[in-house]
Amino acid sequence: MSTQTTQSTKVHAHDIPLDQIDVSDPQPFQDGTIWPYFERLRREDPVHYCGQSAFGPYWSITKYKDIMQVDTNHAVFSSEGGITILDRPEEFRTPNFISMDPPKHDEQRKTVSPIVAPGNLAKLEHLIRSRACAILDALPVNETFDWVDRVSIELTTQMLATLFDFPLQDRRLLTYWSDAATAPIGPGGMFDTEEARLAELKNCLEYFTRLWNERVNAEPGSDLISMLAHSPATRNMGPKEFLGNLILLIVGGNDTTRNSISGGLLFLNQNPDQYQKLRGDPGLITNMVSEIIRYQTPLAHMRRTALADTEIGGKQIRKGAKVVMWYISGNRDDEVIDNPNKFMIDRPRARQHLSFGFGIHRCVGNRIAELQLKILWEEALKRYPTIEVVGEPERVYSSFVHGYKSLPVRIPA
Ligand code: HEM
Repeated sequence: MSTQTTQSTKVHAHDIPLDQIDVSDPQPFQDGTIWPYFERLRREDPVHYCGQSAFGPYWSITKYKDIMQVDTNHAVFSSEGGITILDRPEEFRTPNFISMDPPKHDEQRKTVSPIVAPGNLAKLEHLIRSRACAILDALPVNETFDWVDRVSIELTTQMLATLFDFPLQDRRLLTYWSDAATAPIGPGGMFDTEEARLAELKNCLEYFTRLWNERVNAEPGSDLISMLAHSPATRNMGPKEFLGNLILLIVGGNDTTRNSISGGLLFLNQNPDQYQKLRGDPGLITNMVSEIIRYQTPLAHMRRTALADTEIGGKQIRKGAKVVMWYISGNRDDEVIDNPNKFMIDRPRARQHLSFGFGIHRCVGNRIAELQLKILWEEALKRYPTIEVVGEPERVYSSFVHGYKSLPVRIPA
């Protein structure tokens, strides 16, 4: 298998003038060649200003401790202006609680938090296991197939349909809307214009509005739509805010876990010693799951907007500036994580990564995501001691969602 860094990018990343480095460009993410750019920024200019990019000027925060400083200071670093580097024009914005500050953020977050209460997780565990078993049992042996489609998408989309109590037969719509919401506009993306994206997402709104209308006058259920429809904090949302929160929950619960499931199998194949260690001790699965989520970093960044003039790492940041926390880089910071470029399933303190963020926006679904990965690996290992990656993964064209479109694999007879 090829390594993650090609020689030509390495030369380029270390030769171009610092002020020309623009890590928001989706291309090196798709090519799997982004790593040396972040290595250089961490070493030479950890709080880096990029004056010109397709997304306008922005600051990059690339070291673990600086990222923590930004993520835990929501009084200065606001989510209100949006949480991706892309600024959508006002008419295409769909507000949701990940892009809100307190107090509204806190009230809406509280509405959906019961979905991850320990009692609910315990109930979900049984269901996830039965679904994981069915998906794994149906896999072909001695034949090449796409792991992303047959396993990663299937498991996470079935799970998401359950969380929404969404008709299971239509579950692939959730995958489609999730991709539609995050794809870049233009070449390499799914749509040519924001208008075309919004037109597609209106179908999502229409579908979910039907479900809302069925549930708003029924007894409160334990699914996400019912929670949103009955809570005083969310029941009077307008259509745009409803769509925004739906997209948040769909993308949150879908792409991220999907790409961790795909990445995990890829990393085990790239590191056969670790795959061997896992076969020898399946008790390492829980730790491995955290290591997979660190190593993949399924959301490469979260963005904030400075509410006041401030300082990070000795750099003066002006009020109104866009500040991008590159979790994908902080997770490879050797000042905090030993030997960070090594995938080690028995890494000490493996859960000490940035992939779920920190502070008031820390991922609501982190325990559900970990549970899905843990169960999938427990069941996969029982059935198939080896699943071989037999070709190059096709990566997503995005500097936000860090993941895979396809991963060809084969289960030996
Ligand atoms: C927030 C990552 C799975 C729902 C976030 C944030 C990150 C993240 C980075 C923002 C943190 C911040 O700004 O400090 C991930 C990763 C996952 C995952 C890497 C899987 C490996 C899930 C799942 C769900 C979910 C399964 C839903 C079932 C959410 C929601 C928020 C969020 C609703 C917004 C929280 C807030 O603003 O208060 N996630 N996520 N995520 N995630 Fe996840």
